[in-house]
Amino acid sequence: MELEMDKLVSLCKRRGFVFPSSEIYGGINGFWDYGPLGVELKRNIKNAWWRDNVQSRDDVVGLDSSIIMNPKIWEASGHLGGFSDPMVDCRASKERYRADQIYVFAYVFPAVNPKGEPTEAWLAGLGGNPEEAAEGPEKRAAKLARKFGKPTEPPTIIPYLELSVEDRAKVIGPSTDERDTLTEPRSFNLMFKTFVGALENDSNVAYLRPETAQGIFANFKNVVDTARVKLPFGIAQVGKSFRNEINPRNFTFRSREFEQMEIEFFCRGEEAADWYAYWRKARFDWYTSLGLRSDRLRMRDHDAEELAFYSKATADIEYAFPFGVSELEGIAHRGDYDLSQHMKFSGKDLSYFDEEKKERIVPHVVEPSAGADRATLAFLCEAFTEDEVGGESRTVLKFHPRLAPIKAAVFPLVKRDGMPEKAQAIYRELRKNHNVFYDEKGAIGRRYRRQDEAGTPFCITVDSDTMTDDTVTFRDRDSCRQWRVPVAGAARALRDLLEGEAIPGGESS
Ligand code: GAP
Repeated sequence: MELEMDKLVSLCKRRGFVFPSSEIYGGINGFWDYGPLGVELKRNIKNAWWRDNVQSRDDVVGLDSSIIMNPKIWEASGHLGGFSDPMVDCRASKERYRADQIYVFAYVFPAVNPKGEPTEAWLAGLGGNPEEAAEGPEKRAAKLARKFGKPTEPPTIIPYLELSVEDRAKVIGPSTDERDTLTEPRSFNLMFKTFVGALENDSNVAYLRPETAQGIFANFKNVVDTARVKLPFGIAQVGKSFRNEINPRNFTFRSREFEQMEIEFFCRGEEAADWYAYWRKARFDWYTSLGLRSDRLRMRDHDAEELAFYSKATADIEYAFPFGVSELEGIAHRGDYDLSQHMKFSGKDLSYFDEEKKERIVPHVVEPSAGADRATLAFLCEAFTEDEVGGESRTVLKFHPRLAPIKAAVFPLVKRDGMPEKAQAIYRELRKNHNVFYDEKGAIGRRYRRQDEAGTPFCITVDSDTMTDDTVTFRDRDSCRQWRVPVAGAARALRDLLEGEAIPGGESS
């Protein structure tokens, strides 16, 4: 089944996973809020990342650096000079586009234009790749064909950045019918600017960080001096980053405020290639261990032309979202570029003394850099399932139990005969260790469906048998299988199930 993005977006809104930011004021483009279920899901993802990459390892420590830092950091990192995407403005529509996301479809129409020449109409489309960009031009070509006849050839597809200045003049922009309205690509800085203190002048300018990584490099010496770390070791950070993206789009995928989960792993230069290979695999396996098991998860190694000049290798972990295959996380072998830059700009010695080799070196860095919002979106896409149960269709989010916002829901079958009191006692017991939910309203089938849509792995129902034999019904979200468990063993049974124990008569989740 192909997931339609609209269905997922509407489920996220309806069930309280993700809301448009400031919605009561008409929203604000590129910003999103996580509702009661969404905040649990995203927090579970960040906690799983922290647990698996920091707390469960001997060689990675954590950090929480400030969002606003000395602007010199952004000079050293290259963000102030170079962290800009070439942008193209449309003089007619006043819209602004990322130049690398404009593809030109060079159509030639057979009929004559008013001057009696064949008409070339080069139609610009927007997208991360030519397939994604094709939709607009295809529709417009069909319209133009009514006027000028069917184009003679399938169009040549050319990235806008590769066109000559003369050819750019032939292009009709994505939201206009005129030619030659698109400007030359121009640089546009993506960092949000602010002022520190009362005065708004050039000497008080500061920036909201566009990545968490630089806070790690800036604290490298502090960590080495205080944490008893020895190469190879990593410093990890989870936190907000901000980019004034020109085209925020595809739901939360490209936002202006988002969260990153980054590790800077420091090692000796001669070991960096092995550590790069290690992290490239470890990070891919992390996603599969949490349920991104389908072939929608992919690894793409960058070609030599794509690499930053200092990077020896980079790979992207990509996911085939409904809107196209796009990056979830990048793993980069960055050489000693970052620490060397900060040594140059700060004038501080950030070298490391290797006790074993009795040698002072500038460590090399392998950087696995992930986005918490993109991971959340990928887990939502992967979990979204529509199936049929007992002849009725249902929507179910099949989250890995570690990520599920609610771990179990407890229901009394009916609101009488002592069942609510019994169910509430079980609920209070389970709540000590898990995020559980109590619900006594409506038909039991509807309550199950609501939990299926929230992605709750297990439902526990108190019924009339409970009142005589002190057992409850456990129900598994994915298979809808049901079995009975003694009330006294319910907490333990739930814990075991969440840790992956197989459901009776079924597979482990
Ligand atoms: N320190 C390296 C760095 O920041 P990046 O590829 O620019 O590299 C890393 O960003 C990750 O941050 C991306 O793979 C993505 O998951 C996330 N990310 C970047 N820009 C984003 C945006 N505008 N919205 C949501 N997530 C974003």
